[in-house]
Amino acid sequence: MKAIVMTGVGGPEVLVTREVPEPRPGAGDLVIRAEAIPVLFPETKLCSGEYPLPVEPPVPFGFQAVGTVTEVGADVDTALIGQRVAVDTMGFGAYAEYVCAPATSAVPIPDALSAPDAAAVLMSGSVALTLLETARLTGVETVLIEAAATGVGAALTQLAKRNGAARVIATAGGPAKLAQARKLGADETIDHTDPSWPAQLAESRTGATVDVVFDSIGGPTATALLDAVTPLQGRILSYGFLSGAPAQISAADLIPRGITLTGCSGPHWLARVANSRPAALAQAATGTLIPQIASILPLDQAATAHQLLDSRTPLGAIILTPS
Ligand SMILES: NC(=O)c1ccc[n+]([C@@H]2O[C@H](COP(=O)([O-])OP(=O)(O)OC[C@H]3O[C@@H](n4cnc5c(N)ncnc54)[C@H](OP(=O)(O)O)[C@@H]3O)[C@@H](O)[C@H]2O)c1
Repeated sequence: MKAIVMTGVGGPEVLVTREVPEPRPGAGDLVIRAEAIPVLFPETKLCSGEYPLPVEPPVPFGFQAVGTVTEVGADVDTALIGQRVAVDTMGFGAYAEYVCAPATSAVPIPDALSAPDAAAVLMSGSVALTLLETARLTGVETVLIEAAATGVGAALTQLAKRNGAARVIATAGGPAKLAQARKLGADETIDHTDPSWPAQLAESRTGATVDVVFDSIGGPTATALLDAVTPLQGRILSYGFLSGAPAQISAADLIPRGITLTGCSGPHWLARVANSRPAALAQAATGTLIPQIASILPLDQAATAHQLLDSRTPLGAIILTPS
């Protein structure tokens, strides 16, 4: 079968189409014939070596896929064969015609949802729902969503008001992304390509503060936002570091302000995210979360897909299709 193999650490060119043996399911595994494979932002960082690699290259690349179950291993219900599911490989091997994954990761796809739409919301929707559950918004609060035009930020922007936000302020990079954030439900937008944007936020709020920050940028930006957060009740949920570094915030910053910083990463967090996948797919099927797809590309254009994500131009998910 055809698979995209990560041949080394580097730019998108390390992703090469190769013929590899079809995977066989071990005990507790299943295999799907892949129909839609999401290209995920963190995968671009794994490829470039910025995030630690769980397995040394060369390896078939990719974390998630959506398709139809063709085979199951020992201890897996044979009734799954023929069902449409989304899977998480917990490692590598999703950019391929056939994908092997733990059966426990398989989530049924609602009939009303296409494979590309399911692939587009699988990660972004489940992370956003878990963040919103963690934030415990009260119905009268103002939230700040960073990088709100795409990915997790876009799903948060769509879902925030249904989950207790009264007002949504969104950051994004450049006019097209700012317009996209507004289309998705932001009341106000700020261009985060201007490094002084935290100061602009404070000015535009004329003394008012934001109650919850969904922080995906991290680094020194998170420090610059501290005085814009509501004292005593404010919460910062740190789930990404697009700036290249985690939020530069210490207990000495939080204690005098009475602000809470919640780390939203690591295995325990990811277990909660996995539990939210059925809800994310259900919300996409019923239209409360609208999948945002920028392009659907053939599997062998995986390197192009990574180039596109690196360019920061797509206004939605990029999905690979093996057929
Ligand atoms: N903790 C978790 O469970 C979890 C899960 C998934 C992702 N993440 C993390 O969350 C972050 C966003 O991931 P995603 O999948 O939602 O990505 P995404 O939205 O699909 O793509 C990244 C977006 O971030 C913006 N961006 C890129 N570089 C940036 C920079 N240096 N400074 C500010 N913004 C930048 C770009 O938007 P603009 O063009 O508008 O700047 C780009 O569209 C990443 O750090 C990722 O690793 C965490």
